[in-house]
Amino acid sequence: MLFSRGKPWALWYRFFGAIMVGMSSLPKALPQVDQVSSPALLIYPDRVRDNIRIMLEIAGDADRLRPHVKTHKLAEMVRMQMKAGIGKFKCATLAEAVMLGKENAGDILLAIQPVGPEITRYAQLAKAFPDAMFSVVVDDAEIIRQLNRSCAEESIRLGTFLDINVGMNRTGVLPGPEAIARYKLLHEMPFLDVRGLHVYDGHIFGLDVDARTKRVDKAFAPVRELIFRLEQFGFFPPQIVAGGSSSFPVHARREGVELSPGTTLLWDFKNLDHLTDLPFNCAALLLTRVVSKPAPQYVCFDLGHKAVASEMPHPRVRLIGLEDVEYVGHSEEHLVAKTDRWDDIRVGDAYLGIPNHICPTVALYDHVHIVENDRVTKRWKVAARYRLDTKIETMKPQKAQKTQNE
Ligand SMILES: Cc1ncc(COP(=O)(O)O)c(C=O)c1O
Repeated sequence: MLFSRGKPWALWYRFFGAIMVGMSSLPKALPQVDQVSSPALLIYPDRVRDNIRIMLEIAGDADRLRPHVKTHKLAEMVRMQMKAGIGKFKCATLAEAVMLGKENAGDILLAIQPVGPEITRYAQLAKAFPDAMFSVVVDDAEIIRQLNRSCAEESIRLGTFLDINVGMNRTGVLPGPEAIARYKLLHEMPFLDVRGLHVYDGHIFGLDVDARTKRVDKAFAPVRELIFRLEQFGFFPPQIVAGGSSSFPVHARREGVELSPGTTLLWDFKNLDHLTDLPFNCAALLLTRVVSKPAPQYVCFDLGHKAVASEMPHPRVRLIGLEDVEYVGHSEEHLVAKTDRWDDIRVGDAYLGIPNHICPTVALYDHVHIVENDRVTKRWKVAARYRLDTKIETMKPQKAQKTQNE
């Protein structure tokens, strides 16, 4: 069983969750978009709020959550989560870390090992925001030493999590003797505070909840063993940060584990189709219009590679009302589909679409449009869209600004 510990959430979910998935995952109608140029990305804050509530219900406590901001890169969404009591965040770039620093987030974890100039920059960034606790994941002995030297030069301390590879084979060290050696090394570094282990298992994905649960537990078993060994060596019980959308409900059953989902905030159709047991809402939809009908059956939308993430095979978007079209061409600005309903479609018609993969889709936009009560009411800047290549001095901390966005 996926949920245990007798949480009210578990009961509620068992009875109503499956029904809710079908009912509430899509907005009912196209909002008023006459004045909104396409392509555009629309965000529905009421749906985001719902998603935050569901995350909290699954986690059981705001303190157990460390959501990833790479999904949305939006300061306003950081604020919404902080308002719900969430104070810890994960990020993947220095720009995201700066966004979190400026929003006065208390506990910021960079979940990618810094290399090259990023090592010093991250240390400088931590110094620029003295009120926040900055941490970073590491796995390499030489990087650990370099990070320690940079922290010494900046006279600051950084928190560290040893990154553990539990089968994704993307980053980290295997949870065996090498992990123990690396953990010991971290303790020898005077400017690094050792906080614990980082365990990301994003390779575990799939429809069947029980099978997914078993795989998550099996991948985590060597981490349990590692924790036991580390405690035998006299180390404090490590803090554990684990999981993404597909696995965090399983990790939620483990006492003391911090949960780090990201896509849960906005959801997309990859998750909608594969994680049907989780009742999150699609809170970000693409607005596209038909720009041409070049031949019978062929319809061209203004949703090229520059408007929707294209690292996946087709379909890269699911157009609401045109779910059955066949995608036959995709270039920078154009998406071409074939449909039998060609006669019913006019050039200029607007459609909403759920992206296959929301995280890289957000990164294609400078601004997102906010939909409230079926109207587009304002825009939010995608604050952490660009990578930082500026000097760290430009990252001065500032009070979270009230913008027209709130
Ligand atoms: C290290 C790390 N943690 C957490 C997440 C969040 O996972 P998800 O987007 O599946 O919620 C990701 C996503 O890529 C990740 O790379």
